[in-house]
Amino acid sequence: MDKSLEKYVKNIVLMAEAMSLKAPKGMPEDKIIGEIRQKALSTYLLHEENDEILRERLYSKKPGDLSEEEAAGLSEFADAIFPIDKAVAYHVHRLLHDYAVLKGDRDLIIRSAYYMGLNVFYLRYENNDIGVSLFMDRIADHFGEAAEYYSEYDSFKSSETRSYIVRSYANRKLSPSYFNVIDTDVDLASNRKSFEAYRNHRRMIEQTLGICFDEKRRSENPEIPWDSFIETTYQGEVSFCLTSLRNAVFTNEQYNLIAKNSLYAASYLIRRDGDRLITSGKKIPIIDRYRFAASEYHAGLIHPNKLIETLLEIYDEVPHDDFSSDGIFANLRIPAFINAYRSHMNAEGRKKYGERAEKTIAAISDYLMKLPRNQYINEMSRYLGDIVWASITKKQGYNRQILDYILACHPPTYIHSHMVAWLCETLFLRIIETDPDSLRGIMGIEYVPAIRDSEREVARAIYRCGLYHDLGKCMIIEHVGNYTRRLTDEEFAVIKLHPILGNKLLLSMGSYEIEASAALNHHRTYDRKGGYPADAGVIPRKAEAIVDILTVADALDAGTDNVGRCYAASKTVDTLIDELKKGSGTRYAPYVVKVFDDPAFCSRIKREIDKKRRKIYAKTYVDMSRDEGR
Ligand SMILES: [Fe+2]
Ligand SMILES: [Fe+2]
Repeated sequence: MDKSLEKYVKNIVLMAEAMSLKAPKGMPEDKIIGEIRQKALSTYLLHEENDEILRERLYSKKPGDLSEEEAAGLSEFADAIFPIDKAVAYHVHRLLHDYAVLKGDRDLIIRSAYYMGLNVFYLRYENNDIGVSLFMDRIADHFGEAAEYYSEYDSFKSSETRSYIVRSYANRKLSPSYFNVIDTDVDLASNRKSFEAYRNHRRMIEQTLGICFDEKRRSENPEIPWDSFIETTYQGEVSFCLTSLRNAVFTNEQYNLIAKNSLYAASYLIRRDGDRLITSGKKIPIIDRYRFAASEYHAGLIHPNKLIETLLEIYDEVPHDDFSSDGIFANLRIPAFINAYRSHMNAEGRKKYGERAEKTIAAISDYLMKLPRNQYINEMSRYLGDIVWASITKKQGYNRQILDYILACHPPTYIHSHMVAWLCETLFLRIIETDPDSLRGIMGIEYVPAIRDSEREVARAIYRCGLYHDLGKCMIIEHVGNYTRRLTDEEFAVIKLHPILGNKLLLSMGSYEIEASAALNHHRTYDRKGGYPADAGVIPRKAEAIVDILTVADALDAGTDNVGRCYAASKTVDTLIDELKKGSGTRYAPYVVKVFDDPAFCSRIKREIDKKRRKIYAKTYVDMSRDEGR
């Protein structure tokens, strides 16, 4: 591999180290801030270097310019960054793919198409509740392209290529229909759609299994892990079936067919587990036990009471301070499943298991609070939907805890959000002093003396709007967790979803309507001609002034962070105020920008920003080190 590409890989590792937060309790604030600045600066330099490397070695390259040696180096590079930087790996494989097409190298076409599919699969974002799915068509296209070569399978000599063909063939099921099966509308059209999706999926499953069980193929290439392909195929089948059975509406006949297939796949998995585990002395994985029990229930083999009993048994077996993958599954997902199935029990079941079921759901909150925050990126964001869903019935304080937990999971967003919250409140209090007429309509209050009377209440609400405006970012951090270089186009597309995600999360929690509106609109310009999301509609009058203030507060903090964001070449507060003035009337609300006409207010806010920011950074670093040590 090229020296500079090697450097890129090393830089990512170095940066991961620099980002890890460590500040023992009792370390003086100045020392902590000094260290954070030092880290931010070195990160900035590595960031620049990485951008330069990518520009030179990847983005400026045309497929026709590549030498054979360069292509081989890039291929090695893509393998090295696959675990740590899938967004760039995607672009490397795209270049290699186009190069392979020019050269007519079928083996390389297949390999790169497979990897493009895989990398973009990890970058995808799908959420049925809000009707967003990014890159689904690309997943289908890339795997589809490699899978097409199955018709020429015998002409390939390399078992590696054959394996990529089969993998892609199996992964065709990860197409849009796989994700969009869940349709909760109870009408015939959606029923047909859901069953159609299932049939499509089933056809692919059968074709894949046909190949993987084929004795000829197996004996030709015994080194291909056929059995593990079969297992993942069955795993996909059960998840697909159970999600559909729980959420979509089918006729009896359709329902029974899906339930039967689900049970068949779940039994296969549990039998394999059993065979394997008898020799190793391990227990059957809890996820397979859950899948089997749920499939048995849907197939009508066990009563819902029995299903809840089994889920409770699984739940009780795992310690409630186990933060491994299994622990998270048992403590967060099993209660969510219990919540989904408990209404199916009869009176006897409710009497026998109702209270215990309720307790598992209530305990989600305790578990979350104990869960080390650095676990979030790996596990939590995938479960967020279930957790929010299980929590809807809970009281306000509980939901607030969950929101605060989500926010704390991503330290940079946590710090930024606290700064913005405080700035929102400060700007609001200033405007109410100097220009209260502009605030008419805020939180539904039209009469100026009434706004003054509710000053504290409005200030608290606007503080919360600032605090939760970027919550959506914490939810997608798994997809865009890379700060080691400029974001790729795919990552930008995911980032742009954060106002929508934050909005939906806040709405699903109940009683956060104003906060949800603020989150949705905080990246739109004052004249509503720019920013995103463009199609968010009219901002409700009661949230207008809050959005106006939030937009300015957001820009003010994001642009001037001189502690932890040196890498973005932070501006001074004065420069930023000039920018606000330039954007007054288009980007920003004139009456908010006007507060910066007063030099005394400006110097006060400058001082306070600096003081506040140092405090929040220092505190967050101490908190995080404590968490990491757990
Ligand atoms: Fe934002
Ligand atoms: Fe923000």
